[in-house]
Amino acid sequence: MEGRLRRLTVYRIFLLILLAVVVYFLVDGFELLFETPGSGFRLHDLKGDGWIGYRLGYAGAVMLVVAQAYLFRPGLLTKLTWLETHCYLTTAGGILILVHSGFPFSFGYWNPFERIYPWLGLYGLVGVQGLAAWLVIVLIASGIFGRYIYGRVRWARAFKRWHSVHSIFSGFLYVTGIIHLLLAVSLRYVAAA
Ligand code: HEM
Ligand code: HEM
Repeated sequence: MEGRLRRLTVYRIFLLILLAVVVYFLVDGFELLFETPGSGFRLHDLKGDGWIGYRLGYAGAVMLVVAQAYLFRPGLLTKLTWLETHCYLTTAGGILILVHSGFPFSFGYWNPFERIYPWLGLYGLVGVQGLAAWLVIVLIASGIFGRYIYGRVRWARAFKRWHSVHSIFSGFLYVTGIIHLLLAVSLRYVAAA
């Protein structure tokens, strides 16, 4: 029991460090929010490199980051209220991010591994943004299931396993998100459509 608790604490610290890196890139990309919006509206504007899409991705990411306050559950709210906040914010933020990614009509990453070429160096990793979008979907689906079995005695063992899987997938989302932010926001690298 003590070993599990220690592993969980170490993992939470790891997630917090990744979260701090995400926040760093969000601060870096803040000024782009104030670039003059394009005139008129095309559906493509909803995607990451469009003037609306950029803002959607930004807002969605901020919501995901705030939802991670659940990791330390500050005394401000009860544990259950924090959990509900976590669920609603991640679901709503996730939807904004999926629109930003081109879902459902213009999503270019149906095979999440197809456009990732690590042997081409950092820029070969731009396709990781598609994998990140899939991880958002997986995490929302996983979260809904987890919320259902949360606190149910009959599911207690399954919940422990679920918790590890949900947390590990979160770690993958943080890492893929950081790669995406580094390329698209700090280096302003836009993948060819
Ligand atoms: C978990 C969060 C995020 C995911 C899953 C994600 C996913 C994606 C995907 C799949 C695309 C490609 C869309 C297309 O095919 O045109 C994209 C593009 C883009 N995203 Fe994000 N995004 C996230 C967060 C953000 C944030 C927070 C920002 C800005 C601060 C951002 C900035 C951009 C930019 C500038 C592009 C255009 C670059 C390109 O098309 O290669 N993204 N994003
Ligand atoms: C991008 C989406 C999501 C991310 C990155 C994420 C991340 C996390 C993380 C890191 C934890 C572990 C917290 C801890 O160890 O204290 C967690 C726990 C949890 N999440 Fe999520 N989550 C997401 C979506 C959701 C959604 C949509 C729901 C519900 C509908 C949800 C329900 C839960 C539940 C029930 C727990 C366990 C709470 C506990 O053990 O006290 N998650 N989530």
